[in-house]
Amino acid sequence: MQDLFSGLVQEVAPQVIAFRRELHAHPELSFQEHETARRIRDRLGQIANLQVLPPYIETDVVAVLNADMPGPCILLRADIDALPIQEETGVAYASTRQGVMHACGHDGHAATLLGTAMVLSRVADQLPGKVKFVFQPAEEDGGGGGVLCERGVLDEPKVDAAVALHAWPYEPVGSIAIRPGWVMAASNPFKVSIQGVGSHGAYPHRGIDSIVVAAHIITALQTIVSRTIDPQDAAVVTIGQIHAGTAENIIPARAEMEGTMRYTRLELGEQLRQRLSRIIEHTAQAHGATARVEIIDGYPPMYNDDDLSALITTTGRELLGEANVVTAVPVSMGVEDFAYYAQKVPAAMFRLGVRPVASDSYPSLHNPAFNFNDDALPIGIRMFCEIATRFLRAGGRGTK
Ligand code: NI
Repeated sequence: MQDLFSGLVQEVAPQVIAFRRELHAHPELSFQEHETARRIRDRLGQIANLQVLPPYIETDVVAVLNADMPGPCILLRADIDALPIQEETGVAYASTRQGVMHACGHDGHAATLLGTAMVLSRVADQLPGKVKFVFQPAEEDGGGGGVLCERGVLDEPKVDAAVALHAWPYEPVGSIAIRPGWVMAASNPFKVSIQGVGSHGAYPHRGIDSIVVAAHIITALQTIVSRTIDPQDAAVVTIGQIHAGTAENIIPARAEMEGTMRYTRLELGEQLRQRLSRIIEHTAQAHGATARVEIIDGYPPMYNDDDLSALITTTGRELLGEANVVTAVPVSMGVEDFAYYAQKVPAAMFRLGVRPVASDSYPSLHNPAFNFNDDALPIGIRMFCEIATRFLRAGGRGTK
């Protein structure tokens, strides 16, 4: 099977690379992936043994291989949306859309998944189960993964496990990185509005200065992580926006702030939310102002299932060599909406190296110069094909 895959992967690689570049040239923002979805749907329609399902949201594409085959079902997911960034890669197939680009490699994820569907469809009769391919919108903004899970993407056929990958510019092409357990953070974005009393800049005693109150709040918020969270746990509180005032000689009545909290264990979330609200409301009160806090539900933390992580690690070591599977992976305080799948079924996500082997560095994800590396496409496809095949042949279990 291993040799069969490498031959088939080589065969589809030129089409997959062309498709990746086509997506790269036509990026679309979260929930606006109409053209992207149409391009994917067209290609999937040409693949044998594949049933393309009606969309759950408008811009998702979900297809099932071996829909009528008894046996387990593994879901493979690629996100497909782009970012509001002006591209600076200088490549010939650069974004044709002003201010929008694939700066997070989702063009590469989608192409990898298409290639995987092409290859697996050729060996469909040798697979003792089903593979569900999910091309998911709105990973960057809006949690498309959460919406799909709510609308039943894990049912009919019922999914037993889910696997995804993400382009990783910090490791070389030919390597992957994976570890079990908590790997990505949960987030709670929040908004704060402080109400003081406006006054002339020369008469502070006649007002309540919302800017001074905001400053005290920002400083006090720094004690949440430093003084109330166990140092062995990971958490972040960041204020990313502050708006107040109109002129140098006016004390503004209102100040608005926005920020985000990140944490890696769900239980920490409640502690952080309570502490944040209390500090903001009471600090405002201490200065005679009032403050309203709105805490928004963000993505849950991402947990990599132990057995699936072991399956991916073993597969990677056999395919890529022992040295090319990085397991010393630090927990990222970034978020990922694949975590919604992981809340419902065993799931695991691995990182796919995209940095050219000869280079020391590569532009970061979300950088205007970032571009998915086409050399990583065949590796991603082979990994997906092997993981799915091994999972189904093990009767729907990860194998340690
Ligand atoms: Ni991404």
